Amino acid sequence: MSKVMIKDLGSFMEKKVKVSGWLYNRTSKGKLIFLLIRDGSALVQAIVSRQTLSEEQFNLADKLTQESSLEIMGVVREDNRAVGGYEIEVESLKVFQICDSYPISPKEHGVEFLTFHQHLWIRSQHISSILKIRAEIISAARNFLNSQGFYQVDTPILTPSACEGTSTLFKIDYFGEPAYLAQSGQLYNEANCMALGKVYTFGPTFRAEKSRTKRHLMEFWMLEPEMAFVEQEENMSIQEELICFIVSSVLKKCSNELTTLKRDVSFLKKVQPPFPRLTYSRAVELLREKGFDIKWGDDFGAPQETAISSLHEKPVFITHYPATIKAFYMQPDIDNPELVLCADLIASEGYGEIIGGSQRIHDYNLLKKKINEHNLPEEAYQWYLDLRKYGSVPHSGFGLGLERTVSWICGLSHIRETIAFPRMLDKIYP
Ligand code: 4AD
Ligand code: MG
Repeated sequence: MSKVMIKDLGSFMEKKVKVSGWLYNRTSKGKLIFLLIRDGSALVQAIVSRQTLSEEQFNLADKLTQESSLEIMGVVREDNRAVGGYEIEVESLKVFQICDSYPISPKEHGVEFLTFHQHLWIRSQHISSILKIRAEIISAARNFLNSQGFYQVDTPILTPSACEGTSTLFKIDYFGEPAYLAQSGQLYNEANCMALGKVYTFGPTFRAEKSRTKRHLMEFWMLEPEMAFVEQEENMSIQEELICFIVSSVLKKCSNELTTLKRDVSFLKKVQPPFPRLTYSRAVELLREKGFDIKWGDDFGAPQETAISSLHEKPVFITHYPATIKAFYMQPDIDNPELVLCADLIASEGYGEIIGGSQRIHDYNLLKKKINEHNLPEEAYQWYLDLRKYGSVPHSGFGLGLERTVSWICGLSHIRETIAFPRMLDKIYP
């Protein structure tokens, strides 16, 4: 007899199978008990009958509480009325544990309560569906990059210097020396792409963001491709292709999860190249027309990004930001050195920035000047400057924020639902 995952039951019609899982719901109707079981892959209804089971086993089934852990053996039957289209006629039952009174019942709970019970809330259909879509996004992104000749190279988490400004660094004590949790793997990836051509890193990144928003986590995962001999135009085309590939993979493989989340996928279906592009300066004009009190040189926050995204049905690139509001390593625009060759990709439906990317400075003297202008300690960046001495080439890359992307694709109202154990401002339990 086969040990089967519920999602695969369709291949075992009229066969005897073993399924292990947890009780999602129980309905007792005299001689019959309906057990709705989840195993992480899907839900299935199992029917326990007094006729098939011993008195003892039947009574045991009748005592099962929500989230009790169990294993059933039985025959798979087709039933169009049942969840998933199948049911199992139980022939024997093994109970691992009868669950204590489970804190999360099907009734509505407040966010405080649910996040305090995060370790249990992840079992809900809602969070499980999001986590499965997250897994598909990661898998699709890797498949895409691997197929395009990228090598995954892992970059360090413990670092001696900042990548994205010094205001959001998590400082730690490294045997008496100050060190920081990585804000981005980019600087190391610039070295890696000079070794391997096209690389990406995918790992956790850390920002001590002191604002409480629906878009910021203190610990989030970033996918960071970096490419030698690639300039900003090509960099954006790769981002476009990557996003389209990810969205189409999720639409293809996660339709059940999107349905569980009640996601309206009409906007996702429109995610096809090319994405609209507008310059920062044009964006400022448009925002002013919409009544925003903003001047050239101000950075955009969530309300501005949402307003820009509402002008388009697809994700939109905002390009050519002023150098003053961007990181030190971005390549100035040759036609106007006040601007840098960068783009933020703003998701559709008001989800804000999902990608930040740019062409990097490849000239030694210019980079050294920028490091000094940004008051960064030059010694700490010596190795980074070296890259501009030994076979320097134009190169570009970007960082895709995984949780922002999950939030957008799943249509969520808060980023805390996009990762199993979110790290929020003043919240680190559980
Ligand atoms: O725009 P950012 O700061 O870019 C970088 O870190 C570059 N070094 C990446 C690169 O070029 N290799 O961050 C990239 C993305 C943002 O677009 C956003 O999606 C996400 O990371 N992000 C966050 N997501 C959740 N919580 C936060 N606090 C985030 N900060 C950035
Ligand atoms: Mg950014």
